[in-house]
Amino acid sequence: MEEVIDKTGGKNTGDGWKNYNDTKRTAAAVALSDVISKEEKRFTSKDVELNRVLGGGIVPGSIVLVAGEPGIGKSTLLLQDALEMNEIVTLYISGEESEQQIKMRADRLKINNDNFYLLTETSVNTIFQEIKKLKPQFVIIDSIQTLQAEFVESSPGSITQIRECTAAFQRFAKETGTPVFLIGHITKDGTIAGPKLLEHMVDTVLQFEGDRHYAYRILRTLKNRFGSTSELGIYEMTGDGMRAVLNPSEILINQKEDQLSGSAIAASMEGLRPLLIEVQALVTQSVYGTPQRTSTGIDSRRLQLLLAVLEKRGGFQFGVKDVFVNIAGGLKVEDPSIDLATICALLSSYEDVPLPQHICFAGEVGLNGEIRSVNRIEQRIAEAEKLGFEKIVVSKFNKKGFDKNQFRIQVIALGRVDELYQYLF
Ligand code: TYD
Ligand code: MG
Repeated sequence: MEEVIDKTGGKNTGDGWKNYNDTKRTAAAVALSDVISKEEKRFTSKDVELNRVLGGGIVPGSIVLVAGEPGIGKSTLLLQDALEMNEIVTLYISGEESEQQIKMRADRLKINNDNFYLLTETSVNTIFQEIKKLKPQFVIIDSIQTLQAEFVESSPGSITQIRECTAAFQRFAKETGTPVFLIGHITKDGTIAGPKLLEHMVDTVLQFEGDRHYAYRILRTLKNRFGSTSELGIYEMTGDGMRAVLNPSEILINQKEDQLSGSAIAASMEGLRPLLIEVQALVTQSVYGTPQRTSTGIDSRRLQLLLAVLEKRGGFQFGVKDVFVNIAGGLKVEDPSIDLATICALLSSYEDVPLPQHICFAGEVGLNGEIRSVNRIEQRIAEAEKLGFEKIVVSKFNKKGFDKNQFRIQVIALGRVDELYQYLF
């Protein structure tokens, strides 16, 4: 349902931020060749993970949506990142918390910054009056769902409100060259609350995710006008703020003395970063008629497919088993190269035989049980080697020209899942 918008009435008329538009502009077409290409000077934040997911720092005049479930740490992350940039004037607008609450959080972070300003306000009109006075170089809004534009006759968080408020900040960002970060809540079903339109209105959409029961948080690029969308930042939520995790592979692999069955390490890639990830599987006799299949961190249809391949091509009786698969650390993985590690974890639990230590896997599995090649194989192998693995299983169909002998780690190239089974068990 659309709400009534009254742009002429209300107390907004004639004053406030509307005057932002009062410079008369004439529209004229320009020849592309006459446009001078400016090297946009990005702000680099002290947070290397944030710079990475943004494609190399904060672009002036850009509008960035940071979305995530309540309690995941969006306010903490942006407060911390802003406090660390003490050379630029930041305005942090909160419609969710009081000044005291934010102060308490800042105290926990233990960062001093005299250029950091707070405004607890939800009225867009009042906010722009303050913005005009302060002229901040960086604006953060926590959250877009709490804001209210006076000329929209609907409650905060409604579709029209979100759209109008975002439009106002978009205009402000473009006209003044000020970067604006909007915090947005995600609803239970994982969609960003508010219209899909919101995602189209902003330049960049970052999603902050993680399992609240784990300390690890992932900042993922879903859309970026100024960089790649396959980037990923990893943080650890500590007692005094977010800590960038610079070597994620180390934390994602369970450090344990003796190897248990049902666990296998995948040499995966997230964005441009190699990441070694532990896949855990538990295969048990099914008690009920319909066997259970539960997966966290990997796509459940992918799991079904891999089970079907094992059943059909390997003759394993997964049809009478309950199967649980989990990615350690609460991570969600989309890289198909974890197929091979998933298969190995499943087989290891099925046979109740631990895999040899110091081995990892990188390969996609096809419907015929063939092990398919994956991209950036050299980078994956190099990461495995760096972390002290002794062997890595890859597809023998990986593109020609890469030399296994350049690595110290033993590279085992196989063509089919049954060869892998024979090799391991
Ligand atoms: P918050 O940033 O308020 O989440 P969001 O804005 O996404 O709703 O963070 C909420 C949780 O973070 C809260 O349970 C407390 C925890 N926390 C820490 O663990 N360490 C810290 O330094 C801070 C400030 C918060
Ligand atoms: Mg918050």
